[in-house]
Amino acid sequence: MKPGFFIAIEGIDGTGKSTQTRRLAEHFRNLGREVILSREPTDGPFGKTVRDSAGTGRLSSEEELEYFIKDREQHVRELISPSLEAGKIVILDRYYFSTMAYQGARGLDPVEIRKRNESFAPVPDLLLILDLEVDVALERIGKRGDIANEFEKRDNLMRCREIFLSLSDEPFVRIIPTDGTVDDVSGRIRDAVSGLV
Ligand code: TYD
Repeated sequence: MKPGFFIAIEGIDGTGKSTQTRRLAEHFRNLGREVILSREPTDGPFGKTVRDSAGTGRLSSEEELEYFIKDREQHVRELISPSLEAGKIVILDRYYFSTMAYQGARGLDPVEIRKRNESFAPVPDLLLILDLEVDVALERIGKRGDIANEFEKRDNLMRCREIFLSLSDEPFVRIIPTDGTVDDVSGRIRDAVSGLV
C-alpha cells in the first residue's frame, strides 16, 4: 500500500479554493487513489459555532481561536490522522494556516498560533497557497471595497494575504497564482503535485 499523502489548500476568499480543492480530489480519484476531501471549519459542533458567529455578531479573537482549535483537534483525531494512517490522500480546504492568517489579522501572533497548532496537528506534506490580488479577489466575490464595512474587509484580507505569503519559503509550500481561467489554475495545481504523490 502506498503511504498516505496530506495536502492543504489555503488562500483568501475569492481565490477559487473550494472549486480547485474539488478538482484536485477528482484528479487523484481518476488516477485510482482513495481521497478524503474535507474542510475547516468542519460541520462539527465547534466548527458550526464559528461559522454561525459570522452572522450573529462576532466572537472575540481569543474565543474564535479556541473554537477553531477545538474544531481542528476533533478533525485531526477523527478523520485526518486515521485516513493518513490508512494510506489515503487527504485534501483539506483550509487548515491551521487560515488560523495564522485570519486570527493573526485580528491581532493574535501568527507564530504562536502556528506553534500551538503544530503541537497536535500534523504538518501537511504539501501546502498550496492560492494567491490573488485582494482587489481582484473582492471583485470576484462581488465586493468592491468602497463602503466602510468593505474597507475593513479589504484591509483584513490584505493582512491575511501577507501572512499566507510569509510562508512561501517553507520547503512544503507552493504559491499558486490564480489569475486566468479555472482550467489554467487547475493546470498549475496539477503541475505542483505531479511526481509528489
Ligand atoms: P470558508 O472556507 O470561506 O467557508 P464558506 O465557504 O462557508 O464561506 O471559511 C469560513 C471563514 O472562516 C473564512 O472567512 C476564513 C475563516 N477561518 C478562520 O478565521 N480561521 C480558521 O482557522 C479557519 C479554518 C477559517
